This record gives sequence, structure tokens and C-alpha cells, in this order.
Amino acid sequence: MTEKVIKNAKEIRQLFLLDHKINFLNFGSFGACPSAVFDDYQKWQRLLEKEPVRFIVEYGPKFLEESKQALGQYIGAAASDLIFVPNPTYAINTLAKNILSPGDELLTTNLEYGAMDYTWQYHCDQVGATYVRQPITLPLTSKAQFIDEFWSGYSSKTRIVFISQITSSTGLIFPVAEICAEAKRRGLIIIVDGAHVPGHIPLNISTLQADFYTGACHKWMMAPKGCSFLYASKEFQDTLDPLVISWGFKTHSAHGSIFQDYHQYTGTRDFSAYLCIPATLQFREDHHWDILLEKCRASVLKKGAELSEFLGTLPLAPLESAFYGQLYAAEIQTSYPEELQRILFTNYAIEIPVMRQGDHCYIRFSFQPFNREVELDELIAALEEIRTTTDLWTKGNR
Ligand SMILES: Cc1ncc(COP(=O)(O)O)c(C=O)c1O
Repeated sequence: MTEKVIKNAKEIRQLFLLDHKINFLNFGSFGACPSAVFDDYQKWQRLLEKEPVRFIVEYGPKFLEESKQALGQYIGAAASDLIFVPNPTYAINTLAKNILSPGDELLTTNLEYGAMDYTWQYHCDQVGATYVRQPITLPLTSKAQFIDEFWSGYSSKTRIVFISQITSSTGLIFPVAEICAEAKRRGLIIIVDGAHVPGHIPLNISTLQADFYTGACHKWMMAPKGCSFLYASKEFQDTLDPLVISWGFKTHSAHGSIFQDYHQYTGTRDFSAYLCIPATLQFREDHHWDILLEKCRASVLKKGAELSEFLGTLPLAPLESAFYGQLYAAEIQTSYPEELQRILFTNYAIEIPVMRQGDHCYIRFSFQPFNREVELDELIAALEEIRTTTDLWTKGNR
């Protein structure tokens, strides 16, 4: 038997195309693709350009199906219940166009991703539905607190629940399994925004009881940009009109499924990114990614606690794996988050987001196997220097 060779952070870093001069603490925004996966992507693109007609009409769909099968196995869903989409925004726009009726209330939290809020608010306004952004008190003290607060936004008009499994600006994991189970009990439609979930924390859609689930494969799964999915339970598949009308809208039967015909072909485009799921899974296996992630999660809790301590703010949830994966956001008291982010990048070569969410600002780091704990020490040193040399932010009170 061959022995497992676990690479160190520096060696792992060599496997990516990332600029080595940058302290890269923002995997959360757009992921990053390992060279091996990017090579696979370009291989598909070259094949496409070699014989565009044969590729798009004949080979492509066959490879697409294989890639979808591999994805389905990885996330616990039948391939026939999945469509590839360019990104979760596309998936949620598809649902928002279809699912709302006049008078409905859609229950969500006040911690959702801004572009999703815009999408739902727009479509709710169009049809005369209400988007209810239930406030969640931070720091969270327990899952039970979250669940109680969430359901206090429920009314007799609530028909749909929309919730992130891992939130963008706070990086927290929400107790989505419990919310799905209760939503089912109440007879609600449940839509989960799992943009950050695939490849980050374990995902088994078949056990979740969600009606719809979208996830990005170009973030933590490390597929090329533009590779994501929408899962729809069988019950709802035939109720969704496509966001973009193309041939599949009338020429049924290519797949024997309205869901696949309507949504999977949206006109001519390069779908090479969709074909890279097998290569991303191979990369993870080759480099024992899941073993490496255990160390990352421990580092997130350790360095996250230090960052919050330095900023004089409390962690946004108990420091337990139930709430944190590879992201950690700490509240930072600044009125100029964009400027702070710019200075960290320009003066210190640190790529990290500093985001607004409601009246609060959060600085959020990610930790991948190529990161080292010393990079978080460098972040804290940079923040200390900025604090003493500018008036961009001040220490908060506990
Ligand atoms: C929670 C959440 N939902 C949705 C999205 C949208 O992702 P995309 O821009 O790839 O559509 C993001 C992006 O970071 C996100 O964090």
C-alpha cells in the first residue's frame, strides 16, 4: 500500500495559480482554482474549439452528464434532480421568478447575502408578496436561540423559507437541518442558499428535506468560475419556467425531463466549467483535502478568537465547529470598511474582505490548507499599525 503524503502549506500553495506575494485570506468571495483543475478546464475548452459543433451537440452533453453524476454523488442528490447553473445568483433568480404568489410571505433572516435580498425584494414587489427579514441577535448564544428567533418571524401568511446554510458576511453556519425539518412540519416551501457549502462542510441533500438547494462549485470545491448547481425536489421540478428561454422550452425529450430540458441549455455558451467536477474531486482525493481541512478548522477557531480579542469584540457565536467551518468574521468598528480593505491590500498585500451588513461591519478571513497561522498574525499586526496611524477604525467596547 502506498503511504499518504500530506503536503505542508507551502507545498499546497504551489498547487494553485494564486499570486505568491499576496497573503490570501479571501477564499470565500470567489474561491481559487488549483492548476490541475484549471488545466482540465482548458483541456475542455480546447476540445470545444477543435470541433465546436460536435462538442456542443454530441460529446459535451455526454461529459456534462458524467460530471453531474459525480457532483450528485458528492452532495447526496440524484443527477436528474440537479441542473448546472453559472452561479447561485442565477439559481435564486430562477426560483424567485417562479415561486411567489400575491399575498405570500417569504421568511428569511437579516443576515442573507445582499444580492439575494435584492433579488427576492424585486420579485416580491413585482407580485405583491412580502420579504420578511427576521432579525437574528448576534452574538448567537446557541442553535436554539437562532431557531426561536427565526420562527418568531412566522405568520399565517408565511409560505416560503429562504435561508443561507453558511452566511456571507458573518461566515457562520446556521442550523439549516433543524429549520428544514420544522419548515416541512409547517408545510412550507424551503429554499437553501448553500453558496459556501459544497467542499467546505459535509453536504448530503438527501437528508436535508429542502425543496430547493443551490451551491457554488467555484468556491470551496475549487471548480473554475461559473460552475454551480440548483437542486429541485421532484415535486417542484415541473413547476419552474426557465430564467432564459431556449430550445429546450419546446423541443422536449432530450432528457425525458422538463426540468433538464427547460433549464440546462440556455443558448450557446462555453460550459467547460461544468465539466470539471471529476477533476476537482480528483484533486481533493490526491491531496487528502478532507484531512487537511480538519487542521484548518482548528486554526479558524484559534486565530478567530485572537482576532476578536484584538478587536475588542465578542465572537459572533460560541467557538464550536457547529458554527464555524473555514470562515471567521469578527465585528470591526469602522465607518470606512471599503477603505480599510483597500489599505490592507495596497499597503500590506493582504486580501481580505471588510463588509457591511446592516449597521455592522465585519472583517472575514478564510483558512485553506495553503494558509499558515502566522498569516493571521500578520493581519493583526497590520490592523494594529493602521489603528495607530489612521482614524479608520477604533477599538470597540465589550
Ligand atoms: C451566501 C451567498 N449566497 C449567494 C452568493 C452569490 O454567489 P454568486 O455571486 O456566485 O452567484 C454568495 C456569494 O458570495 C453568498 O455568499
